[in-house]
Amino acid sequence: MSVKINTTINGQAVSASAEASTSLLEFLRDTLEMKGSKLCCNTGECGACTVIYNGKPINSCVTMAADANGAQITTIEGLADGDKLHPVQQAFIDTGAVQCGYCTPGYIMSVKALLDRTKKPTQADIEEAVSGNICRCTGYNKIVDAIHLAAAKL
Ligand code: FES
Ligand code: FES
Repeated sequence: MSVKINTTINGQAVSASAEASTSLLEFLRDTLEMKGSKLCCNTGECGACTVIYNGKPINSCVTMAADANGAQITTIEGLADGDKLHPVQQAFIDTGAVQCGYCTPGYIMSVKALLDRTKKPTQADIEEAVSGNICRCTGYNKIVDAIHLAAAKL
């Protein structure tokens, strides 16, 4: 069964149909051709697919596309301003927190949601905010450095 989805993604009204069983991640990547949110575990364990849904970071692989109806969604594609990267994106580059990059969009969305909530996150806030994100490359210290740098610049 197909469902109609009227939603707002990165400030743009989007109207499209999808099978009722489609995940939000599949809707973004396959229906809308927005490939920035990554498919990795597909079970809500790794955070690679994180998007901001009505102000909160969620795993889009375990969220139904139909739940996007009427929602405000921000994806990694919505962060840069033309050629100018968002401060969180720039901080990840500046601190060397990007290696293979597969986890990076999800981390950046979790961090953006954190810094939208508080401009001065504590270490505990940071650890909690990225507790659902897994990186296999960086050893995490550079990611934490990036979050502190981004917080200082916002
Ligand atoms: S791909 Fe969604 S949490 Fe891993
Ligand atoms: S940079 Fe490779 S998984 Fe994080």
